[in-house]
Amino acid sequence: MSKLNKSIVFSICKTVLICGLVLYGCTIFLFNDSEHQFPASDLFSSLQFTSSPSSPSPSPPPPPPPPPSSQTSTSSIISPTNIGHLVFGLLGNEKAWHNRKAYVESWWRPNITKGHLFLDVPPKGDDLLPWSLNSPPYRISDDVSKLLKETNHVDARVMRMVHGIMEVVREAHEGVRWVIMGDDDSIFFVENMVDILAQYDHNKYYYFGGHSEFILSNYWYSFNQAFGGAGIMLSYPLAKTFANTVMSCLKRYAHLQSSDRTTMLCVADLGVNLSPLQGIHQIDLRGDISGFLAYHPKSLLASLHHYDMVDPIFPSMDRAQAGFHIQKAAKYDQSRMLQQTICHHRSKNWTFSVSWGYSAHIYEKIMPRSWLQNPIETFKTWQRSRRPPHYMFDVRSPSWHPCEAPHVFFFKSVEKNRRGEIVTTYTRAWPRRIGVCLEAGNYSAEYISEIQVYSSATKRIEIDRCECCDIIHEAGSNKADIKYRECKIDEIIA
Ligand SMILES: *[C@@H]1O[C@H](CO)[C@@H](O)[C@H](O)[C@H]1NC(C)=O
Ligand SMILES: *[C@@H]1O[C@H](CO)[C@@H](O)[C@H](O)[C@H]1NC(C)=O
Ligand SMILES: *[C@@H]1O[C@H](CO)[C@@H](O)[C@H](O)[C@H]1NC(C)=O
Repeated sequence: MSKLNKSIVFSICKTVLICGLVLYGCTIFLFNDSEHQFPASDLFSSLQFTSSPSSPSPSPPPPPPPPPSSQTSTSSIISPTNIGHLVFGLLGNEKAWHNRKAYVESWWRPNITKGHLFLDVPPKGDDLLPWSLNSPPYRISDDVSKLLKETNHVDARVMRMVHGIMEVVREAHEGVRWVIMGDDDSIFFVENMVDILAQYDHNKYYYFGGHSEFILSNYWYSFNQAFGGAGIMLSYPLAKTFANTVMSCLKRYAHLQSSDRTTMLCVADLGVNLSPLQGIHQIDLRGDISGFLAYHPKSLLASLHHYDMVDPIFPSMDRAQAGFHIQKAAKYDQSRMLQQTICHHRSKNWTFSVSWGYSAHIYEKIMPRSWLQNPIETFKTWQRSRRPPHYMFDVRSPSWHPCEAPHVFFFKSVEKNRRGEIVTTYTRAWPRRIGVCLEAGNYSAEYISEIQVYSSATKRIEIDRCECCDIIHEAGSNKADIKYRECKIDEIIA
């Protein structure tokens, strides 16, 4: 077809498509059919996403509207992607699973989340058998030694992980749109993953994942690779093509000792490259990552990997408890998880910074958002690294100056109130005990012991601009309330 013909056909198709949708919308409006699975607004928003995703940067260019002749593309407009369209392949090993089972059970929803845990050998022990209904069903990975012989590959681990993608595709259920690979020491936020993926056309080729936070890991492995423990998300056509060609790729790169890098190379040789997502966290960090989680980038939170390698994310809990605890907030509103909202209490010169569902900080000084958006370096580098740059993001150094160091509060509980708002409560982690910030007027926040945050129950998926908030605090009260709202047009958070 010539370019001109193509564009004529294309605009006719577009017109037909739009007319169809308008008619459909009218049908819903006129007959108010309660059997429709989703309201008209979902229909139109999914169309909008399909034709022009206003998605987190740096993302691929907007895909053109799908040709109406294709049955599958049309269905992508009609039914938004839901959790049933995702299949997970979690690669674990029997030895570690005894400990890591709780991490996965904190986010896995039995009979709803689809996919399998792949173990190296069959599970043993009273703690694992009979197999928990709250765990993903398990499979045993294909015989690696046989595959090694076939490919001359040098690394059994790499063989198992990369070949694992094919094993997941082989068992994927009908209607699957996205294949998600991950490790068993990761906490996933599945609803957000669905909302991220729903913005893309699953009939196209996509390879989503996250960089390492540690700049040298990207340098050592690749700036083009998804660090797989935190989740690699492949659209089905890509996963299928990958599976069909995996053995030849493993032969091609038989000498390589990194599974994530091998996966990236196989994908690149199929003509596809990484679209990095900022909410997928490898957590190539060590120690106390609370300073990282309190100042999350403005993107939907998708995952936290290396959960065993860092301190428990809530200091008063062990790792398993902390995993279940953070999912409590996520059950009420995953879209706001870790989203940072900042507001100022002018009469006291206080600044509040909330990382929704995780922590809240009070500074005894007015600080601008441009500064507060940078994580406090409470954590250490993944590997020894003498000189900066260490991280893929800007950091602030921890300080013990009363005008710089925050009062720290952690998420305690969540509920929905009678007005339908979501109320999250944060309690003080420890007394700050470094005196008051005198230069801002001698207003100590030491006596504040609890912060309650009121947010809308409406999900906030497209995070083009942060929310703003107002502080309600009666003089002398040990409790402060924060009400979320949209920012005013010219509002400055400084
Ligand atoms: C999942 O479904 C199976 C059978 O369909 C049922 O026996 C089991 O109790 C369900 N599990 C949960 C946790 O609901
Ligand atoms: C807030 O701090 C500034 C100095 O940073 C000071 O000039 C101002 O008076 C303070 N406001 C109050 C209400 O104390
Ligand atoms: C700061 O305020 C406290 C209590 O209100 C008071 O005792 C103290 O003297 C004040 N300090 C200064 C330097 O004004």
